[in-house]
Amino acid sequence: MSDRTDDSPGFDAGHFRTVLGHFPTGVTIVSGMSDGKPVGFTIGSFTSVSLDPPLVGFLPQLDSATWEAMAGAGSFCVNILSDQQSDLCWKFAKSGTEDTRFDGVEWHPAPSGSPIINRAVAWIDCTVESVHTMGDHYFVLGRVGALDADADHDGRPPQPLVFFKGQIGGFDSEG
Ligand SMILES: Cc1cc2nc3c(=O)[nH]c(=O)nc-3n(C[C@H](O)[C@H](O)[C@H](O)COP(=O)(O)O)c2cc1C
Repeated sequence: MSDRTDDSPGFDAGHFRTVLGHFPTGVTIVSGMSDGKPVGFTIGSFTSVSLDPPLVGFLPQLDSATWEAMAGAGSFCVNILSDQQSDLCWKFAKSGTEDTRFDGVEWHPAPSGSPIINRAVAWIDCTVESVHTMGDHYFVLGRVGALDADADHDGRPPQPLVFFKGQIGGFDSEG
């Protein structure tokens, strides 16, 4: 295994980003509360970690203003975005807009109090189990307290948004 870092001669950060961008991910908004107000950011590094106990995780940048704002509450909710929510993907990824991201966004509180965004494909409500520093990111491990998919239960399950090579799109099933 190579232990090369960004400072190592020959390490090309752009190439790293390009190659890793070939791994398609879903798109989530990780949400929380800060001083009674909803906050959140676009996160692609969401992952399922453990079934028993039920654990999930995600990786915010060390200098993330949003993570700093929501960390104190000790809880977060992962909202898996639908292909009808591409506007939210970009809105919640814009730096310096932390205070206004939820303007015009319909949401209701999860059991932890963190926002569930209406019409998300699924939501996973968590309490923070532990936070680990890993390179230039934290790994936030969450214990799942409540979750649901197709939360409207209207018989029209939303389709997920997919991120691939810097672009977003829908998902076509081939069975
Ligand atoms: C599709 C997509 C996935 C992203 N995934 C992550 C991620 O996993 N971790 C992260 O720190 N930032 C991720 N970002 C970038 C953050 O959304 C962006 O830096 C945001 O401005 C952070 O908010 P903050 O500046 O308020 O902390 C992603 C952006 C996009 C568009």
